[in-house]
Amino acid sequence: MSDRSETPRGREAASKPAATLEFRHVAKRYPGQSRAAIEDLSFTVDAGEICVLVGPSGCGKTTAMRLVNRMIERSDGEVLLDGQDVHDRPVSDLRRDVGYAIQDIGLFPHRTVADNIATLPRVMGWDKGRIRARVDELLELVGLPLDVRDRYPAQLSGGQQQRVGVARALSTDPPLLLMDEPFGAVDPIARERLQNEFLRLQARLRKTIVFVTHDIDEALKMGDKVAVLKEGGRLAQYAAPAALLAEPADEFVASFVGADRGLKRLALQRVRDIELWSTVTATEGEAAPGIRERLGAADVPWALLVDDDNKPVGWIEPDKLRQGSVTRSLVSPDPPVVVELDDVLRDALSDLLSAESHYGVVVDAFGRVDKALSIDAISHAINADPSTVPSTAEMRAASPEQEPAEEEPAL
Ligand SMILES: Nc1ncnc2c1ncn2[C@@H]1O[C@H](COP(=O)(O)OP(=O)(O)O)[C@@H](O)[C@H]1O
Ligand SMILES: [Mg+2]
Repeated sequence: MSDRSETPRGREAASKPAATLEFRHVAKRYPGQSRAAIEDLSFTVDAGEICVLVGPSGCGKTTAMRLVNRMIERSDGEVLLDGQDVHDRPVSDLRRDVGYAIQDIGLFPHRTVADNIATLPRVMGWDKGRIRARVDELLELVGLPLDVRDRYPAQLSGGQQQRVGVARALSTDPPLLLMDEPFGAVDPIARERLQNEFLRLQARLRKTIVFVTHDIDEALKMGDKVAVLKEGGRLAQYAAPAALLAEPADEFVASFVGADRGLKRLALQRVRDIELWSTVTATEGEAAPGIRERLGAADVPWALLVDDDNKPVGWIEPDKLRQGSVTRSLVSPDPPVVVELDDVLRDALSDLLSAESHYGVVVDAFGRVDKALSIDAISHAINADPSTVPSTAEMRAASPEQEPAEEEPAL
Protein backbone atom coordinates (compact mmCIF):
# COMPACT_ATOMS: atom_id res chain seq x y z
CA MET A 1 0.00 0.00 0.00
CA SER A 2 2.60 2.53 1.09
CA ASP A 3 4.73 1.94 -2.02
CA ARG A 4 1.89 2.87 -4.29
CA SER A 5 0.87 5.80 -2.12
CA GLU A 6 4.32 7.27 -2.43
CA THR A 7 4.10 7.59 -6.18
CA PRO A 8 0.66 9.10 -6.73
CA ARG A 9 1.59 10.78 -9.98
CA GLY A 10 2.14 7.48 -11.67
CA ARG A 11 -1.37 6.26 -10.94
CA GLU A 12 -3.66 9.04 -11.91
CA ALA A 13 -5.76 7.00 -14.28
CA ALA A 14 -6.18 3.86 -12.20
CA SER A 15 -8.34 3.81 -9.10
CA LYS A 16 -6.81 2.24 -6.01
CA PRO A 17 -8.28 -1.14 -5.19
CA ALA A 18 -10.49 -1.35 -2.13
CA ALA A 19 -8.84 -2.38 1.11
CA THR A 20 -9.72 -5.01 3.66
CA LEU A 21 -10.21 -3.77 7.21
CA GLU A 22 -9.86 -5.97 10.26
CA PHE A 23 -10.41 -5.20 13.92
CA ARG A 24 -8.57 -7.79 16.02
CA HIS A 25 -9.32 -7.74 19.75
CA VAL A 26 -9.37 -3.97 19.79
CA ALA A 27 -9.86 -2.11 23.07
CA LYS A 28 -10.09 1.60 23.77
CA ARG A 29 -10.02 3.05 27.25
CA TYR A 30 -10.25 6.80 27.51
CA PRO A 31 -8.22 8.31 30.32
CA GLY A 32 -10.29 8.90 33.43
CA GLN A 33 -13.20 6.68 32.31
CA SER A 34 -14.02 3.72 34.53
CA ARG A 35 -15.46 1.63 31.67
CA ALA A 36 -13.74 0.92 28.39
CA ALA A 37 -15.45 2.62 25.43
CA ILE A 38 -14.54 -0.51 23.49
CA GLU A 39 -13.76 -3.67 25.41
CA ASP A 40 -12.72 -6.30 22.89
CA LEU A 41 -13.92 -5.82 19.32
CA SER A 42 -13.12 -8.13 16.43
CA PHE A 43 -14.62 -8.10 12.94
CA THR A 44 -13.53 -7.93 9.32
CA VAL A 45 -14.84 -5.76 6.50
CA ASP A 46 -14.25 -7.30 3.10
CA ALA A 47 -12.83 -5.19 0.32
CA GLY A 48 -15.47 -3.28 -1.60
CA GLU A 49 -18.21 -3.73 0.98
CA ILE A 50 -20.18 -1.28 3.06
CA CYS A 51 -20.08 -2.23 6.72
CA VAL A 52 -22.52 -0.30 8.86
CA LEU A 53 -21.87 0.12 12.57
CA VAL A 54 -25.19 0.64 14.28
CA GLY A 55 -26.17 0.84 17.92
CA PRO A 56 -27.42 3.16 20.63
CA SER A 57 -25.69 6.40 21.49
CA GLY A 58 -22.48 5.91 23.43
CA CYS A 59 -21.90 2.28 22.36
CA GLY A 60 -18.56 3.16 20.78
CA LYS A 61 -19.31 3.62 17.08
CA THR A 62 -17.42 6.87 16.64
CA THR A 63 -14.60 5.58 18.78
CA ALA A 64 -14.25 2.47 16.61
CA MET A 65 -14.14 4.57 13.49
CA ARG A 66 -11.57 7.03 14.77
CA LEU A 67 -9.24 4.20 15.73
CA VAL A 68 -8.96 3.38 12.04
CA ASN A 69 -7.49 6.67 10.88
CA ARG A 70 -5.82 7.21 14.26
CA MET A 71 -7.66 10.34 15.24
CA ILE A 72 -7.46 8.41 18.50
CA GLU A 73 -5.10 5.59 19.40
CA ARG A 74 -6.24 2.15 20.47
CA SER A 75 -5.33 0.82 23.91
CA ASP A 76 -5.08 -2.81 22.84
CA GLY A 77 -5.37 -5.08 19.85
CA GLU A 78 -4.79 -4.36 16.18
CA VAL A 79 -6.57 -2.47 13.42
CA LEU A 80 -5.34 -3.92 10.15
CA LEU A 81 -5.71 -2.24 6.79
CA ASP A 82 -4.89 -4.74 4.05
CA GLY A 83 -3.19 -6.81 6.71
CA GLN A 84 -0.98 -4.03 8.03
CA ASP A 85 -1.52 -2.56 11.48
CA VAL A 86 -2.44 1.11 11.09
CA HIS A 87 -0.25 1.72 14.12
CA ASP A 88 2.83 0.85 12.07
CA ARG A 89 2.18 3.53 9.46
CA PRO A 90 2.92 7.24 9.54
CA VAL A 91 -0.37 9.06 10.18
CA SER A 92 0.01 11.28 7.11
CA ASP A 93 0.45 8.24 4.89
CA LEU A 94 -2.49 6.49 6.55
CA ARG A 95 -4.84 9.45 6.15
CA ARG A 96 -4.52 9.58 2.41
CA ASP A 97 -5.66 5.98 2.25
CA VAL A 98 -8.59 6.57 4.60
CA GLY A 99 -11.22 9.11 3.57
CA TYR A 100 -13.36 10.58 6.35
CA ALA A 101 -16.80 12.18 6.15
CA ILE A 102 -18.78 13.26 9.20
CA GLN A 103 -22.26 14.36 10.20
CA ASP A 104 -21.76 18.08 10.60
CA ILE A 105 -19.72 17.87 7.43
CA GLY A 106 -16.80 19.76 8.94
CA LEU A 107 -16.33 22.02 5.94
CA PHE A 108 -14.16 25.07 6.45
CA PRO A 109 -16.62 27.98 6.25
CA HIS A 110 -14.13 30.54 4.96
CA ARG A 111 -12.81 28.36 2.19
CA THR A 112 -14.48 27.78 -1.14
CA VAL A 113 -15.95 24.44 -2.08
CA ALA A 114 -12.95 23.76 -4.31
CA ASP A 115 -10.50 24.61 -1.52
CA ASN A 116 -12.40 22.42 0.89
CA ILE A 117 -12.29 19.47 -1.45
CA ALA A 118 -8.61 20.06 -2.19
CA THR A 119 -7.53 20.14 1.47
CA LEU A 120 -5.65 16.86 1.44
CA PRO A 121 -4.29 17.04 -2.13
CA ARG A 122 -2.79 20.43 -1.22
CA VAL A 123 -1.18 19.00 1.90
CA MET A 124 0.24 16.29 -0.32
CA GLY A 125 1.73 18.90 -2.61
CA TRP A 126 -0.19 18.18 -5.79
CA ASP A 127 0.28 20.86 -8.45
CA LYS A 128 -2.51 23.31 -9.23
CA GLY A 129 -3.55 21.74 -12.50
CA ARG A 130 -3.87 18.32 -11.01
CA ILE A 131 -5.87 19.66 -8.06
CA ARG A 132 -8.22 21.54 -10.34
CA ALA A 133 -8.83 18.51 -12.51
CA ARG A 134 -9.45 16.32 -9.47
CA VAL A 135 -11.91 18.82 -7.93
CA ASP A 136 -13.90 18.97 -11.15
CA GLU A 137 -13.91 15.21 -11.41
CA LEU A 138 -15.15 14.86 -7.83
CA LEU A 139 -17.87 17.48 -8.21
CA GLU A 140 -19.19 15.58 -11.18
CA LEU A 141 -18.90 12.29 -9.33
CA VAL A 142 -21.06 13.48 -6.41
CA GLY A 143 -23.56 15.19 -8.67
CA LEU A 144 -22.72 18.84 -8.08
CA PRO A 145 -22.58 21.47 -10.84
CA LEU A 146 -19.09 22.78 -11.56
CA ASP A 147 -20.14 26.35 -10.74
CA VAL A 148 -20.31 25.57 -7.02
CA ARG A 149 -16.53 25.27 -6.93
CA ASP A 150 -16.00 28.94 -6.07
CA ARG A 151 -18.89 29.26 -3.62
CA TYR A 152 -18.65 29.06 0.15
CA PRO A 153 -20.28 26.27 2.14
CA ALA A 154 -22.95 28.56 3.61
CA GLN A 155 -24.15 29.29 0.08
CA LEU A 156 -25.09 25.64 -0.45
CA SER A 157 -28.03 23.58 0.78
CA GLY A 158 -27.46 20.98 3.48
CA GLY A 159 -27.60 18.19 0.91
CA GLN A 160 -25.11 19.97 -1.34
CA GLN A 161 -22.75 20.52 1.58
CA GLN A 162 -23.00 16.84 2.35
CA ARG A 163 -22.00 16.03 -1.20
CA VAL A 164 -18.99 18.32 -0.83
CA GLY A 165 -18.10 16.42 2.32
CA VAL A 166 -18.22 13.14 0.41
CA ALA A 167 -16.18 14.63 -2.44
CA ARG A 168 -13.56 15.78 0.03
CA ALA A 169 -13.43 12.35 1.64
CA LEU A 170 -12.80 10.87 -1.81
CA SER A 171 -10.20 13.43 -2.86
CA THR A 172 -7.19 11.14 -2.67
CA ASP A 173 -9.14 8.17 -4.04
CA PRO A 174 -8.77 6.30 -0.74
CA PRO A 175 -9.30 2.53 -0.67
CA LEU A 176 -11.22 2.96 2.59
CA LEU A 177 -13.87 5.49 3.47
CA LEU A 178 -15.10 6.23 6.99
CA MET A 179 -18.49 7.90 7.24
CA ASP A 180 -19.78 8.90 10.67
CA GLU A 181 -23.54 9.59 10.54
CA PRO A 182 -22.88 11.24 7.18
CA PHE A 183 -26.52 11.98 6.41
CA GLY A 184 -27.60 12.68 9.98
CA ALA A 185 -27.84 16.44 9.60
CA VAL A 186 -30.22 16.62 6.63
CA ASP A 187 -33.98 16.26 6.45
CA PRO A 188 -35.51 12.83 5.75
CA ILE A 189 -36.25 13.46 2.08
CA ALA A 190 -32.80 14.79 1.32
CA ARG A 191 -31.36 11.94 3.35
CA GLU A 192 -33.17 9.35 1.31
CA ARG A 193 -31.90 10.93 -1.88
CA LEU A 194 -28.35 11.10 -0.57
CA GLN A 195 -28.52 7.47 0.48
CA ASN A 196 -29.69 6.39 -2.97
CA GLU A 197 -27.10 8.50 -4.71
CA PHE A 198 -24.41 7.21 -2.46
CA LEU A 199 -25.36 3.61 -3.18
CA ARG A 200 -25.19 4.34 -6.90
CA LEU A 201 -21.83 5.97 -6.46
CA GLN A 202 -20.59 3.01 -4.47
CA ALA A 203 -21.81 0.64 -7.16
CA ARG A 204 -19.29 2.36 -9.43
CA LEU A 205 -16.49 3.01 -6.94
CA ARG A 206 -16.61 -0.20 -4.93
CA LYS A 207 -14.72 1.31 -2.02
CA THR A 208 -14.49 -0.35 1.33
CA ILE A 209 -16.73 1.72 3.57
CA VAL A 210 -17.35 1.85 7.28
CA PHE A 211 -20.59 3.72 7.82
CA VAL A 212 -21.83 4.72 11.26
CA THR A 213 -25.47 5.38 12.05
CA HIS A 214 -27.83 5.04 14.99
CA ASP A 215 -30.73 4.48 12.57
CA ILE A 216 -31.43 0.80 11.93
CA ASP A 217 -33.40 1.54 8.75
CA GLU A 218 -30.44 3.36 7.32
CA ALA A 219 -28.17 0.52 8.43
CA LEU A 220 -30.28 -2.12 6.71
CA LYS A 221 -30.49 -0.04 3.58
CA MET A 222 -26.86 0.94 3.25
CA GLY A 223 -25.02 -2.08 4.61
CA ASP A 224 -23.68 -5.09 2.80
CA LYS A 225 -23.05 -6.13 6.38
CA VAL A 226 -24.36 -4.61 9.57
CA ALA A 227 -22.53 -4.71 12.89
CA VAL A 228 -24.94 -4.16 15.76
CA LEU A 229 -23.03 -2.82 18.75
CA LYS A 230 -23.97 -2.73 22.41
CA GLU A 231 -22.43 -0.63 25.13
CA GLY A 232 -18.68 -1.14 25.42
CA GLY A 233 -18.43 -1.77 21.69
CA ARG A 234 -19.65 -5.32 22.20
CA LEU A 235 -20.64 -6.91 18.90
CA ALA A 236 -24.17 -8.18 19.32
CA GLN A 237 -24.38 -9.42 15.73
CA TYR A 238 -22.50 -9.03 12.48
CA ALA A 239 -24.47 -10.10 9.47
CA ALA A 240 -26.04 -9.13 6.17
CA PRO A 241 -29.23 -7.08 6.63
CA ALA A 242 -31.60 -9.88 5.75
CA ALA A 243 -29.85 -12.25 8.11
CA LEU A 244 -30.24 -9.72 10.90
CA LEU A 245 -33.93 -9.51 10.18
CA ALA A 246 -34.38 -13.20 9.79
CA GLU A 247 -32.28 -14.37 12.70
CA PRO A 248 -31.53 -11.72 15.28
CA ALA A 249 -28.83 -13.12 17.55
CA ASP A 250 -30.49 -12.04 20.77
CA GLU A 251 -33.23 -9.93 22.34
CA PHE A 252 -31.18 -6.80 22.00
CA VAL A 253 -30.83 -7.22 18.25
CA ALA A 254 -34.43 -8.34 17.89
CA SER A 255 -35.73 -5.24 19.58
CA PHE A 256 -33.26 -3.06 17.72
CA VAL A 257 -34.37 -4.30 14.31
CA GLY A 258 -38.02 -4.18 15.38
CA ALA A 259 -38.35 -7.83 14.62
CA ASP A 260 -42.01 -8.73 14.85
CA ARG A 261 -44.65 -7.32 12.57
CA GLY A 262 -42.68 -6.10 9.62
CA LEU A 263 -40.89 -9.39 9.34
CA LYS A 264 -44.03 -11.41 9.36
CA ARG A 265 -45.29 -9.23 6.59
CA LEU A 266 -42.20 -10.06 4.60
CA ALA A 267 -43.09 -13.73 4.79
CA LEU A 268 -46.65 -13.04 3.75
CA GLN A 269 -46.39 -10.28 1.21
CA ARG A 270 -45.81 -10.97 -2.42
CA VAL A 271 -43.60 -9.11 -4.83
CA ARG A 272 -46.69 -7.71 -6.58
CA ASP A 273 -47.91 -6.18 -3.29
CA ILE A 274 -45.14 -3.64 -2.92
CA GLU A 275 -44.01 -0.62 -4.83
CA LEU A 276 -41.52 -1.92 -7.37
CA TRP A 277 -38.68 -0.10 -9.03
CA SER A 278 -38.72 1.19 -12.57
CA THR A 279 -36.11 -0.14 -14.94
CA VAL A 280 -35.01 0.79 -18.43
CA THR A 281 -35.15 -2.05 -20.92
CA ALA A 282 -33.15 -2.17 -24.12
CA THR A 283 -33.16 -4.41 -27.15
CA GLU A 284 -30.30 -5.33 -29.42
CA GLY A 285 -29.59 -2.70 -32.05
CA GLU A 286 -30.99 0.28 -30.14
CA ALA A 287 -28.77 3.36 -29.82
CA ALA A 288 -26.86 3.01 -26.56
CA PRO A 289 -26.55 6.69 -25.53
CA GLY A 290 -30.33 7.12 -25.65
CA ILE A 291 -30.71 4.19 -23.26
CA ARG A 292 -28.05 5.64 -20.99
CA GLU A 293 -29.88 8.94 -20.88
CA ARG A 294 -33.13 7.29 -19.84
CA LEU A 295 -31.34 5.60 -16.94
CA GLY A 296 -31.20 8.95 -15.19
CA ALA A 297 -34.94 8.84 -14.55
CA ALA A 298 -35.14 5.15 -13.59
CA ASP A 299 -34.78 3.62 -10.15
CA VAL A 300 -32.33 0.94 -11.25
CA PRO A 301 -29.10 2.50 -12.49
CA TRP A 302 -28.33 -0.32 -14.97
CA ALA A 303 -30.18 -1.05 -18.20
CA LEU A 304 -31.83 -4.40 -18.78
CA LEU A 305 -31.33 -6.11 -22.13
CA VAL A 306 -34.47 -8.01 -23.16
CA ASP A 307 -35.15 -10.30 -26.10
CA ASP A 308 -37.94 -9.95 -28.64
CA ASP A 309 -40.41 -11.52 -26.20
CA ASN A 310 -39.49 -8.97 -23.51
CA LYS A 311 -37.73 -11.66 -21.51
CA PRO A 312 -34.65 -10.64 -19.54
CA VAL A 313 -31.20 -11.31 -21.00
CA GLY A 314 -28.92 -9.40 -18.65
CA TRP A 315 -27.90 -6.13 -17.08
CA ILE A 316 -25.75 -3.53 -18.84
CA GLU A 317 -23.84 -1.01 -16.79
CA PRO A 318 -24.25 2.65 -17.79
CA ASP A 319 -20.58 3.08 -18.70
CA LYS A 320 -20.96 0.55 -21.53
CA LEU A 321 -23.69 2.67 -23.08
CA ARG A 322 -21.68 5.73 -23.99
CA GLN A 323 -21.64 5.03 -27.71
CA GLY A 324 -22.73 2.70 -30.48
CA SER A 325 -25.66 0.38 -30.33
CA VAL A 326 -26.78 -2.20 -27.83
CA THR A 327 -25.39 -5.71 -28.26
CA ARG A 328 -25.37 -8.84 -26.17
CA SER A 329 -21.65 -8.45 -25.59
CA LEU A 330 -22.36 -5.49 -23.29
CA VAL A 331 -24.26 -7.63 -20.82
CA SER A 332 -22.73 -8.25 -17.40
CA PRO A 333 -21.46 -11.83 -16.94
CA ASP A 334 -23.52 -12.16 -13.76
CA PRO A 335 -26.89 -13.57 -14.78
CA PRO A 336 -29.81 -11.43 -13.61
CA VAL A 337 -31.77 -12.56 -10.57
CA VAL A 338 -35.31 -13.16 -11.79
CA VAL A 339 -38.28 -13.17 -9.45
CA GLU A 340 -41.96 -13.52 -10.19
CA LEU A 341 -44.71 -11.14 -9.25
CA ASP A 342 -46.25 -13.91 -7.21
CA ASP A 343 -43.12 -14.82 -5.26
CA VAL A 344 -43.21 -14.26 -1.52
CA LEU A 345 -41.05 -11.26 -0.61
CA ARG A 346 -39.00 -13.33 1.75
CA ASP A 347 -37.99 -15.68 -1.06
CA ALA A 348 -37.34 -12.84 -3.47
CA LEU A 349 -35.12 -11.18 -0.91
CA SER A 350 -33.28 -14.40 -0.28
CA ASP A 351 -32.69 -14.77 -4.05
CA LEU A 352 -31.26 -11.27 -4.22
CA LEU A 353 -28.99 -11.86 -1.27
CA SER A 354 -27.75 -15.27 -2.28
CA ALA A 355 -26.87 -13.89 -5.70
CA GLU A 356 -25.34 -10.86 -3.97
CA SER A 357 -27.34 -8.76 -6.34
CA HIS A 358 -28.87 -5.41 -5.48
CA TYR A 359 -31.62 -5.69 -8.10
CA GLY A 360 -33.86 -8.44 -9.32
CA VAL A 361 -35.89 -8.51 -12.51
CA VAL A 362 -39.57 -8.97 -11.81
CA VAL A 363 -41.35 -11.02 -14.44
CA ASP A 364 -44.95 -11.99 -14.96
CA ALA A 365 -46.23 -15.55 -15.20
CA PHE A 366 -45.03 -15.68 -18.82
CA GLY A 367 -41.49 -14.62 -17.90
CA ARG A 368 -41.88 -11.16 -19.40
CA VAL A 369 -40.25 -8.22 -17.71
CA ASP A 370 -42.58 -6.19 -15.53
CA LYS A 371 -40.42 -4.09 -13.20
CA ALA A 372 -37.49 -4.47 -10.86
CA LEU A 373 -37.15 -5.37 -7.23
CA SER A 374 -34.44 -4.10 -4.92
CA ILE A 375 -33.51 -4.67 -1.33
CA ASP A 376 -34.41 -1.04 -0.83
CA ALA A 377 -37.92 -1.57 -2.14
CA ILE A 378 -38.38 -4.49 0.23
CA SER A 379 -36.99 -2.46 3.09
CA HIS A 380 -39.62 0.18 2.36
CA ALA A 381 -42.31 -2.45 2.46
CA ILE A 382 -41.10 -3.72 5.81
CA ASN A 383 -41.31 -0.22 7.20
CA ALA A 384 -44.67 0.62 5.67
CA ASP A 385 -47.65 1.89 7.64
CA PRO A 386 -48.20 -0.58 10.50
CA SER A 387 -51.95 -0.08 10.34
CA THR A 388 -51.96 -2.14 7.15
CA VAL A 389 -50.17 -5.04 8.80
CA PRO A 390 -52.42 -8.05 9.18
CA SER A 391 -53.18 -9.17 12.70
CA THR A 392 -51.61 -12.35 14.04
CA ALA A 393 -54.90 -14.16 13.55
CA GLU A 394 -55.14 -13.00 9.96
CA MET A 395 -51.61 -14.14 9.36
CA ARG A 396 -52.24 -17.56 10.82
CA ALA A 397 -55.32 -17.89 8.69
CA ALA A 398 -53.33 -16.88 5.64
CA SER A 399 -50.51 -19.32 6.29
CA PRO A 400 -51.87 -22.27 8.26
CA GLU A 401 -48.70 -24.30 7.70
CA GLN A 402 -46.67 -21.91 9.85
CA GLU A 403 -45.96 -22.40 13.52
CA PRO A 404 -47.84 -20.18 15.95
CA ALA A 405 -46.22 -16.77 16.26
CA GLU A 406 -45.09 -17.24 19.86
CA GLU A 407 -43.00 -20.23 18.96
CA GLU A 408 -41.64 -19.00 15.65
CA PRO A 409 -40.97 -15.31 16.00
CA ALA A 410 -38.30 -15.07 13.31
CA LEU A 411 -38.78 -15.72 9.64
N1 LIG B 1 -12.81 11.86 24.26
C1 LIG B 1 -13.43 11.09 25.15
N2 LIG B 1 -13.06 11.06 26.43
C2 LIG B 1 -13.69 10.26 27.32
N3 LIG B 1 -14.71 9.47 27.02
C3 LIG B 1 -15.15 9.45 25.73
C4 LIG B 1 -14.54 10.27 24.75
N4 LIG B 1 -15.17 10.05 23.57
C5 LIG B 1 -16.14 9.14 23.82
N5 LIG B 1 -16.12 8.79 25.13
C6 LIG B 1 -17.01 7.79 25.77
O1 LIG B 1 -16.84 6.56 25.08
C7 LIG B 1 -18.10 5.92 24.90
C8 LIG B 1 -18.34 5.70 23.41
O2 LIG B 1 -18.51 6.96 22.77
P1 LIG B 1 -18.71 7.10 21.20
O3 LIG B 1 -17.69 6.29 20.52
O4 LIG B 1 -18.73 8.54 20.87
O5 LIG B 1 -20.15 6.44 21.00
P2 LIG B 1 -21.18 6.55 19.77
O6 LIG B 1 -20.47 7.12 18.60
O7 LIG B 1 -21.62 5.14 19.57
O8 LIG B 1 -22.30 7.39 20.26
C9 LIG B 1 -19.12 6.81 25.56
O9 LIG B 1 -19.34 6.34 26.86
C10 LIG B 1 -18.46 8.16 25.59
O10 LIG B 1 -18.92 8.92 26.67
MG1 LIG C 1 -20.94 8.83 17.42
